[in-house]
Parts: sequence; C-alpha cells; structure tokens
Amino acid sequence: MSASTRAACVLLLGLLWTSCGSLRTPPHRLRIPPHDQVARVARFVAHQCDWASMATVSTHPPVVGRPFSNAFSVSDGPEGSGTGVPYLYLTRMEISVQDLQVNPEASLSMSLAQTDYCRLQGFDPQSPLCAHIILSGSVLEVNGTEAEFAKKSLFSRHPEMMEWPSDHDWFFCKFNITQVWVLDYFGGVKTVSPEEYFQASLHRKQH
Ligand SMILES: *[C@@H]1O[C@H](CO)[C@@H](O)[C@H](O)[C@H]1NC(C)=O
Ligand SMILES: *[C@@H]1O[C@H](CO)[C@@H](O)[C@H](O)[C@H]1NC(C)=O
Repeated sequence: MSASTRAACVLLLGLLWTSCGSLRTPPHRLRIPPHDQVARVARFVAHQCDWASMATVSTHPPVVGRPFSNAFSVSDGPEGSGTGVPYLYLTRMEISVQDLQVNPEASLSMSLAQTDYCRLQGFDPQSPLCAHIILSGSVLEVNGTEAEFAKKSLFSRHPEMMEWPSDHDWFFCKFNITQVWVLDYFGGVKTVSPEEYFQASLHRKQH
C-alpha cells in the first residue's frame, strides 16, 4: 500500500469512527500502558481480548500426550472493568474440555493482533511491538457468586452465548493463573507473578 493510500485509509477510518462514535473504543484510542509496567500491559491485553488460544495436553488419538491448541471465547469482566481472571463457558462435549477433565493444566495465549491495534500500527502479530501474553495455569469450575460474575462477564461480551443449546450442560470456569509471560517490546519475554498481575491497575494511576 502506498503512503498516500495508507493516509487515505487512515483518514477514512477516522471519519467512520467519528460517525459511529457509540461503537466500542476506537482503535486509535487503545492506549497501551508503558512497556516498563509489565503487569499492567498483561492486564491490558487480557482485558482487550475477547478470545484466547488455549493449549491443553491432548487425550485424543493420534496425538495423546501432545500439545493441542484451540480457540475459546473469554472475558475477564464486563467491558471497562476487567479483573484479570479469564472466565470461560464450557461443555464437556467439547474436545479440549475433555482433555481438561483428565488434566486441568493449560496455557492461554492472547494478542493485541486480535484487536485493530497491531494492524493499524503496522505491527506483525509475531513482532514484540504487537503485545501478546501467555498465561500458564489450570482451568477450574466456579460456582455460586463467582459463577454469577463469570456469567455477567461472558454474556455481556458474547451475547450469543445466551442462545447456546441448553442440553449441552454448559458450566462456568476460570483460568487459575500460576505464571504470566509478556511479550511486549524488545528484550525478550518478561514474567509476572500472579500477585503482581492482580495488584496491577488496569487504569492509569491518578497521582
Ligand atoms: C462446583 O460444582 C461442581 C458440581 O456440583 C463441583 O463438581 C465442583 O467441585 C464445584 N466447584 C467449586 C469450586 O466449588
Ligand atoms: C491457583 O493458582 C495459585 C497461584 O495463583 C496456585 O497457588 C494454586 O495452587 C492454583 N490452584 C490450583 C487448584 O491449581
């Protein structure tokens, strides 16, 4: 794309966003926390992404015992109020969930390539400039008030879930994080403990 075409596209996008101002946060307003605030970057990516790739240890021939990655809708809270805990809506009929019944350990990967951010900035998904995170941990069923919160978090961002067939026995889960890996900016992967991750503020500090 030539520079002038690109400029025209950016202008057109700007006009489109202006004329539909009630839509979700326009891409140019996605403000990533500073690179050195690694835990905040992780919380930011976890909240922006509506889905994740989840790797399980397969129980299905011919790949028993091998990594198996699959896409899942997630939500860490209603839009604008992320908790950092990715919630999932699952059924035991699903192939990866069958793996989790045997071994709940899993890995979740989320990237700003899933938003408009990297495309508009011209960042390739594999570039460290296109921030992405990997969460290690396990998938645990939640009940009671936490399940109510998971429902609110998921259904507000994935309204279609309300219509999913009730005979599939859906249930709510959380991804219990044991380690956070952040690929944002140069210098290699950075790690964040669950404590640092949950203490980080999604929003800019007021002072
Ligand atoms: C939630 O309820 C299910 C089914 O009753 C049970 O198997 C599971 O252990 C419960 N989980 C928690 C965290 O209480
Ligand atoms: C959940 O994660 C915490 C670390 O945040 C860990 O200490 C705990 O063992 C995990 N629980 C399970 C059941 O995996």
